[in-house]
Amino acid sequence: MLLRIQAASGLVFAVFLFTHLLNTWLSALGAPWYDAFQRPVGTIYQWLPVETLILGALVVHVVCAVLRWRRAPEGPVGLSVRQRLHRYSGIFLMVVVGGHVAAVRFIPGWYGIRPEAMGVSFTLQYLPGYFYPYYFLLGVSGFFHAANGLVIAASRFGCRFRLSTPNLYRLGTGAAVLTLASLLGFGGWIYAVGDAFDAPFARLVLELIGERPSA
Ligand code: HEM
Repeated sequence: MLLRIQAASGLVFAVFLFTHLLNTWLSALGAPWYDAFQRPVGTIYQWLPVETLILGALVVHVVCAVLRWRRAPEGPVGLSVRQRLHRYSGIFLMVVVGGHVAAVRFIPGWYGIRPEAMGVSFTLQYLPGYFYPYYFLLGVSGFFHAANGLVIAASRFGCRFRLSTPNLYRLGTGAAVLTLASLLGFGGWIYAVGDAFDAPFARLVLELIGERPSA
């Protein structure tokens, strides 16, 4: 039962996650592409019933993982490289996703703003040594965990959907290239990015951390 609940919650969250990653990758083409996709699509996933479903599925998925570890806390002994990567990417996502949602959704949402492309650009300009590797790992781990998770979830519901390990790694490499390209876009290496420190998200963050007087 627990395995099926985890699979079902993972499938629900994966719909959001693949949309979100596609949105992120569009930034390689230009910030207007990112914002033009996110504004209408975000209206759907931030509609209270939908957002509750997405974030609820995420919480249920994480709780299932913790319960499974408590029941069978065996280490990675005997696991294949693919299974280990699934586990490690899941642990990484579990550790960072709460902070990510708080930073880009709950806190700005409370003040009535959205980060948009300029907000992500600001984080990269403000703390590049942290945010380039962080977003890169977030994008790659998110894609790998969701893609491999789809195969696992399909098998839990009796569906024989196969994705060979070499093909999974090829897809993962593609996701890594797209994530890197999107970060180069947000970071101003592909097209000019304006003054990200003047964006609403940047002004909010700088005010909250006391680096800018409140208006
Ligand atoms: C390079 C990678 C990523 C970047 C740059 C990024 C950036 C963002 C931004 C800017 C938002 C706010 C969206 C909006 O206002 O509509 C957001 C929301 C969110 N992100 Fe990410 N994200 C990345 C990867 C991920 C991954 C891998 C996950 C999950 C495993 C994730 C989970 C979420 C969630 C749950 C939300 C909140 C959705 C909502 O309730 O509106 N993100 N992200």
